Amino acid sequence: MKLLVCGGAGFIGSSFVRLRVNEHGDDVTVLDKLTYAGRRENLHDVIDQIRFVHGAIEDPVAVAGAAEGCEAIVNFAAETHVDRSISDPEGFIVTNMQGTHVLLEAARRQGMRYVQVSTDEVYGSIEEGSFTEQSPLQPSSPYSATKTGADLLVSSYFHTFGLEAVICRGSNNYGPYQYPEKLIPLMILNALAGDRLPVYGDGRNVRNWLHVEDFGHGIGHALAHGLPGEAYNCGGPDECENIEVVRRILGLSGRDESLIEYVTDRLGHDRRYSLASAKLQQLGWKARMGFAEGLERTVAWYRDNDWWWDPIRSGVYREYYERQYGRALKR
Ligand code: NAD
Ligand code: DAU
Repeated sequence: MKLLVCGGAGFIGSSFVRLRVNEHGDDVTVLDKLTYAGRRENLHDVIDQIRFVHGAIEDPVAVAGAAEGCEAIVNFAAETHVDRSISDPEGFIVTNMQGTHVLLEAARRQGMRYVQVSTDEVYGSIEEGSFTEQSPLQPSSPYSATKTGADLLVSSYFHTFGLEAVICRGSNNYGPYQYPEKLIPLMILNALAGDRLPVYGDGRNVRNWLHVEDFGHGIGHALAHGLPGEAYNCGGPDECENIEVVRRILGLSGRDESLIEYVTDRLGHDRRYSLASAKLQQLGWKARMGFAEGLERTVAWYRDNDWWWDPIRSGVYREYYERQYGRALKR
């Protein structure tokens, strides 16, 4: 299949590209703006087998050029970090909403199938039980509000123009090549460096962990078998409190709990996410990787691949970290 993968140089997008090239033999074009989170290094092992276009999804000319000859668009491109959306939301509106609109227009003009990669955060927080696709959309942060806006635009293009569009909503992903501003890689790299591990609030917020390769397979199922106009939840097999995630990482890194530091909570911090994924399972998808095994492999990957993270930790990320946490990184 000829695929346009937007945001394919990011964490989940690059894993999806690897999967499509290696397991499906797809002809893939990646369109990516290469923000701080997008890196060619994430595609190092498949870069010779794809076409890479450096450009922004909110730029109609770049999108038209990249989309030429493609049968489907899978859109991962987004500003994705909740904390950054709280300190500076504007870029989230441009990329996540305006950019999605430009892609939908291109898909409509060319009659392409369209998959929007979305998030459990569009439903907001849930104390008990799990969200289904029928649950109301109640986003809390500027990030999740822009992802919700994008989902609604996608639905409108199905209802109004008959666009063959599908939405796939994932829970918290983890695995190799994740930018270390997110909980799991940040805690792993701080633990390996002997730095403190900053836990927000009481550490008892719960996330529903999904290995990045399982999400890639779920998106593939939505692309191949999803009904136009439908949304599909893709939730991980395990839920875990943040403090438990941090304790496990310390154990896997050979460190003790004295490195844990409780810090000021995130504004509007969602307490718990949980997805029911029966609808996607009916399409044949099932998560393969449990959290215990996936986390162990992930810690090992970061331990063995400092070529990948060392340039990040010694570059502009240091300034971000100092602004966010009010102190410098050790390494
Ligand atoms: P990421 O931040 O690692 O990667 C985002 C990618 O998009 C980067 O390559 C970046 O350069 C690119 N990008 C950003 N703005 C762009 C623009 N204007 N034009 C073109 N490219 C642009 O993000 P991720 O964690 O890989 O998330 C990918 C998608 O999955 C996002 O849509 C996110 O909302 C969704 N999602 C993420 C998670 C998660 O846990 N990380 C869970 C569910 C859904
Ligand atoms: O749920 C899916 C979403 O997961 C995606 O849509 C987002 O793009 C992705 O960033 C992620 O959002 P979260 O806010 O859940 O992930 P994050 O890794 O930022 O935080 C996970 C939890 O850990 C959250 O409860 C906040 C907490 N946390 C995070 C950081 C960075 C800490 O306690 N300390 C930290 O330093």
